[in-house]
Amino acid sequence: MISLNIEKTFGFISKESVSAYEAQVKAAQEALENGTGKGNDFLGWLHLPSSITKEHLDDLKATAQVLRDNCEVVIVAGIGGSYLGARAVIEALSNSFTWLQDKKSAPVILYAGHNIGEDYLYELTEYLKDKKFGVINISKSGTTTETALAFRLLKKQCEDQRGKDMAKKVIVAITDAKKGAARVTADNEGYKSFIIPDNVGGRFSVLTPVGLLPIAVAGFDIEKLVAGAAAMEKACGKDVPFAENPAAIYAATRNELYKSGKKIEILVNFNPKLHYVSEWWKQLYGESEGKENKGIFPAAVDFSTDLHSMGQWIQEGERTIYETVISVEKTNHKLEVPSDAQNLDGLNFLAGKRVDEVNKMAELGTQLAHVDGGVPNMRIVIPALNEESIGGLLYFFEKACGISGYILGVNPFNQPGVEAYKKNMFALLNKPGYEEESKAIRARL
Ligand code: PA5
Repeated sequence: MISLNIEKTFGFISKESVSAYEAQVKAAQEALENGTGKGNDFLGWLHLPSSITKEHLDDLKATAQVLRDNCEVVIVAGIGGSYLGARAVIEALSNSFTWLQDKKSAPVILYAGHNIGEDYLYELTEYLKDKKFGVINISKSGTTTETALAFRLLKKQCEDQRGKDMAKKVIVAITDAKKGAARVTADNEGYKSFIIPDNVGGRFSVLTPVGLLPIAVAGFDIEKLVAGAAAMEKACGKDVPFAENPAAIYAATRNELYKSGKKIEILVNFNPKLHYVSEWWKQLYGESEGKENKGIFPAAVDFSTDLHSMGQWIQEGERTIYETVISVEKTNHKLEVPSDAQNLDGLNFLAGKRVDEVNKMAELGTQLAHVDGGVPNMRIVIPALNEESIGGLLYFFEKACGISGYILGVNPFNQPGVEAYKKNMFALLNKPGYEEESKAIRARL
């Protein structure tokens, strides 16, 4: 189970000011439970972990096995909420060098549809030329240009390389039940498909097939992931007292910090495997809260790496930031610092110590230095990088995000702001139906 410590924010905000959020948090929890708040048609994630059935997981596992049996590489095609959750979990749980190893226990998972980089897509299609590959095409709307474009390339290559029959077996669609081009293609081609429920938005969809299928293909235990999330659903439930509810405390503390002028939250890890958990978190909070000219800016750093780049700014730059550290209590492997007869690097004082002990002291030293430098600090401790902990962490952040968005007074479940660039892009590309916009935008150039 995760634990949250906010003690190191108290030099900047008071304990009482956080406790004062109890009534607002209660109201937010009730609005979520009763579906009376903004965006109440997108609350399907709230009790998702506890409602996932064994049959559903078995169906996902069976499909994952088909891909595992028939593919060396599986491409997850999706953008935003349609790929970040899967990538966050897979990268947190995978061996960092697995894809370089000759003998692999699971297909290599690669990602596409989240950029329009011609070189990226060219190099991907080149890499796939001699590979038995499959595709999981993920798009809730089924019309996202980036994903559709990548899928068009991958579908053709898969059919050309592997034949239509095999392509049918190794292409899976995860999309809306009825709407969108991805649904039409899946139905016409006879792909196995899974539905993204109408009431679950992209950034809250990691525990739907959007996340669960790729995670299962990568060889991770989706039952344990869901069980970890279900345990957190209970721990953050509406009847859990405010002071014992980590989602409530996190939501209250970040809103109070924001009110006190801390406009930027930096999610910190001391484990490179958590990089994509931060990317997922950035989307969750950025897209949920950044609207109506409000919202904490969610940033992220990987330490120690970024201590040697962003560390200077964090220590001494503008004092509008606070940090939330994800700390992993136990490593999965043991590695000791060796002794060296010559001790030329002067590191013999560390000989015999676990590398993680050094890392933990870097973490503690950094926390103290940054707090001394004027940066409030929250700490989330997870027991280890395993399915249960990660499942719990994801749900914790989702629940806190719902509560936090309601405290802020916004609709945390829509994203009207992402349409503006699309409209311009379609106008510039002369998409049929955008004739007026095309004329108007060209006049501005
Ligand atoms: O959170 C969201 O809703 C977005 O990030 C979407 O997931 C993203 O835009 C992809 O949309 P779609 O799944 O419709 O292709």
